[in-house]
Parts: sequence; structure tokens; C-alpha cells
Amino acid sequence: MSRIFTLLLAVALVSCQTKQVKTPIAGLTADNAMVVSAHPLASQAGLSILQKGGNAVDASIAVQFALAVVYPGAGNIGGGGFMVARFNDGSIDALDYREAAPAKATTNMYIGETGEADPELSTAGHLASGIPGTVAGLEAAHKKYGKLDWKELVQPAIDLAINGFTLTEKEAAGLNRVADSFKKYSTVAPDQFLNEKWEAGDSIWNKDLGHTLELIRDNGRAGFYEGQTANNIVAEMERGKGLISLEDLKGYEAIWRTPLTSNYKGHKIISMPPPSSGGVALMQLLNSVSEYPINEWGWNSTKSVHLIVEAERRAYADRAFYLGDPDFVNVPVSELTALSYSTNRMESFNPEAATPSTAISEGTIAMKESEETTHLSIVDREGNAVSVTTTLNGGYGSKVIVAGSGFLLNNEMDDFSAKPGVPNMYGAIGGEANKIEPGKRMLSSMTPTIVEKDGKLLMVVGTPGGTTIITSVFQIIVDVIDHKMGMQEAVNAKRFHSQWLPDVVFNEQGAFTEEDSLQLVKMGHKFGMRGGIGRVDAILVLPNGKLEGGADPRGDDTAMGY
Ligand code: GLY
Repeated sequence: MSRIFTLLLAVALVSCQTKQVKTPIAGLTADNAMVVSAHPLASQAGLSILQKGGNAVDASIAVQFALAVVYPGAGNIGGGGFMVARFNDGSIDALDYREAAPAKATTNMYIGETGEADPELSTAGHLASGIPGTVAGLEAAHKKYGKLDWKELVQPAIDLAINGFTLTEKEAAGLNRVADSFKKYSTVAPDQFLNEKWEAGDSIWNKDLGHTLELIRDNGRAGFYEGQTANNIVAEMERGKGLISLEDLKGYEAIWRTPLTSNYKGHKIISMPPPSSGGVALMQLLNSVSEYPINEWGWNSTKSVHLIVEAERRAYADRAFYLGDPDFVNVPVSELTALSYSTNRMESFNPEAATPSTAISEGTIAMKESEETTHLSIVDREGNAVSVTTTLNGGYGSKVIVAGSGFLLNNEMDDFSAKPGVPNMYGAIGGEANKIEPGKRMLSSMTPTIVEKDGKLLMVVGTPGGTTIITSVFQIIVDVIDHKMGMQEAVNAKRFHSQWLPDVVFNEQGAFTEEDSLQLVKMGHKFGMRGGIGRVDAILVLPNGKLEGGADPRGDDTAMGY
């Protein structure tokens, strides 16, 4: 192929556009409090709690239970998540309610007779599920910080499940897409999710889930990890040859962790520590670009994109090698997040040319993570802020609906390395630090983050998107701090993502001008088009003290405030 043709093809792959799409749309503003989540009915549940005097933690609990009903693709009680909180006295906290490997899990549980990992087993069906963490996490958050009665927080979700609600176009399409998988992987046909063809505006109910939520409302975590719900989960596991036992469920605990903090251009960044890789990698990325005049160079200009991609290449190589559950492996967090470490890593940065990823590091590469996760950002009228990202992993998780209980189980076991050192189903390789061990939590990219300026709350941000979570949160922070964008403008702005390996810069259509694309290709960058990257839900405190919501137009995401 001639060089000219290669260049033309690469430019076509980058974007096929002639102008930047960077629509400056102001988001919803509110004087007192705001909630931004992936679904209007979940945002409404959170807003009602805030208006009743509940705090940001209370509202986040109500939103998560509501998402488990109205957004089954990612909202959940059968999955797990992380919360980062900043309270109005400046104190911060982080809660890890990530799923854990069952006691009977083994490092080689997905390796077949041929010696290869079987991708189906870790992504769909009963063996794909880790022990769910969400209900334990929500109860732990409420016990430590909740203001309103627990029952009040669960009730909106019960009402939605029992009285029904109408499907959005995206949810109807999602349920149609996944219907065959639900039939294939669930041991009892989940009739409540099946219809000849779902359409936007159709009503849907889930009485089994409503009853499960009533048990949780009345008994707290025991309504999920013990009694009827636990028995239904274990019966489901036995029918489908899964591993989760009654002991696994009863023994599951959410863990309070110390948030990671760092400084970026005079702002305090507060984010999630391991077992998320998000906070560590985010801080490495911000440190790596902090010495460069990104604002002067311009939004998604050749120079800015080149710098960011080179920083991402290095941070994701470290992520693959060093990161795992800190309760099982030694993760060198303070070393990786030190400014001097990233400065040293960027010494090999060549401003004129891309560094091939093979030249960055030998060894293991980034783990594949599916992209159906969900994020919510909340600020209450006292100025307390909560940033929560929660997940089933893939869309609709393992596709297994617990018979009699009406909820989906996660397929989070696929976030472990099924076979360390060998490519998995996506051609990605996992590291030794993230191998499967009983009770261990699989590495995550979820990056719920809060930004502070001059000791005051500035921004609450996060997104779904698997490994693109970290780079999306990174771009939002740079867009707001360096490029002075508003919240909705930053959320709308087209994004790109690179992660060391594969050695490709993925981008949304409109992310770069044709001229910048051409320059970047000449410098040695390779590009691949993607649909949407992330679904960021974020809140910015404006200079006049009002809150601006940024709800991602890539989904049904909705900001509500008062
Ligand atoms: N399952 C997506 C993540 O935890 O990063």
C-alpha cells in the first residue's frame, strides 16, 4: 500500500469530519442540590430524597436502588461498585463494594482442556459471577453517613418495580438485543424481561424484584445475603453450576478505604484507590501532563492529543503490571502516583513522534473490561458530594436472572485475568497481580472522582466505559481546568482513548479536525473509530455558587436539581 493511501485511509478512520464538534451547551443549573444519573426515573428518586432533607449519601442509595429497577443493563443489586465522598467539612471517604471471587474459585477456572481460556465461561452464565457487593455497600454507606430512614431510601425502587414504569427507547432496544441471552443463560425463563418486541413507552413491571427489595427494605443486608434471596441465588448457582455459596454471601463485607489524593495545577483530586486502577492511573495521567501548556496548545490539537496519548501509553502499561486487589498483592500506590515517577516516565516522550507501545515496556498488558457500568454524581444543599460508579460489568451482566428474585447477576469474574500472561478473548493480556484467587476482588477501572479548589468543592465526576473510564474522567478534568469548559460542554465534547495496547487511539467522530488527524498519523499514531466513549455524569460548582449538571447525551442521562 502506498504511503499516501495509508495516510488517507488512516485519516478516514479517524473521523471523516471537517470540523470540530464541541457544542457549548450549558447544563441544568440549580441553587441548592443536584443529582445526575443514567436514568430520569433514578434521578427523580434521588431528587425527592434531597428535597425531603436527605443528604447526598441518602440520595445516592435511593438512586442506586432505582437504577437496579429501571436500568437493568448496568444498575444493580447483583453487582458492585465504589463510592467516593467529600463532606462539607472537607473530610473525605471511599467505600469499596466491589464483587469478590467465590471461595471455590481457582486461578485456572476458565482454562479448558486445550490449555486456553474459555471466554464464554467468564462473561456469561453462572460461573461468570462474583459475590455481589452492592447491597452490603449501600447498607455500610447508610450506617456511617445516612440521615433519613433506610426504608425511605429503598421504597422508591420498590414502587417502580411493583407499579411499573415506561421504557425509554434505549432500554427497549437493550432488552430486545439481550432477550436470547436471557433465555439461554437463565435457568428459569425470566418472563418479566421478555416480550415479542419491546418498544419505547411500553410499561414493564418486576414483581419478583419488588419483593426482593421489600426484603432488603425490612431486613437490610440480611434481606439479600441471607434468607430467601440468598437461597434463591444459591439455588440458581446449583442449577447453573455456579460457585457462589451461602457462606460466600453471608461473609461478604464492603470495605472502607482511604481515598487517593493528588494535586493538579492547584486543584485537589480525590479518587478511588485499588482495587480500582482508576484513581492511580488518573493521577499518573494528570501528573504526566501537568508541566505542559495544554490550554495554549488548544483542545484536541495535534500537540495536546499527542501528549495525552503518550501519557496514556505509559500509565496503562503500569496499570497492567502493578495493579490488583491490595488485600492480596502489594500495589506500589505512592510510588506510581508520585509526580517524580510520572516525570521520569515522560522522559522518553518525543514531541515529534509516537513511541511504539512495544518500546514502552515488556510484560503484561491492559485487561479488557466491558463497558456497561453506570455513574451518578450528587451534591446536597449542605455541600456534601458523592461520586458513585457501580457495575454488573457487561451489559445485563452474566445474563442470569435469579429465579424468584428478579435481578441480574454480574459477570465481573471477567475483570480478573483468566490466564495471566496470555491474551484473553479480546486479545488483551492480564497480569499476575490480577489473577483469580478465592475472596479476591477483581481489578476495576471505575474512577469516581471529586475535585476541590482552594479547599472548596469544585466538581463531582465519573463515567462507565471499562478501561475508557480513566481516560474519560481525565479528559473531563483537563477540559474544565485547562480549557475552561462548563460542565455540560465538557461532557458533550468528543473523546478519544488509548491504553498502551492495543497500540491504537480510539476516537469518537468529531474528536479531531482533519488537519490534526493527518498530523497525528504522520507522527506515527494509529486510529480506530468508536461509537460513544463513556457516559459521563458530573456536577460543577460555578463561580456564583450555583451547581451546573452535565448529563451525558450519549445515553438517557438526566440532571435534576432544585
Ligand atoms: N467492570 C468494569 C470495571 O470495573 O472497570
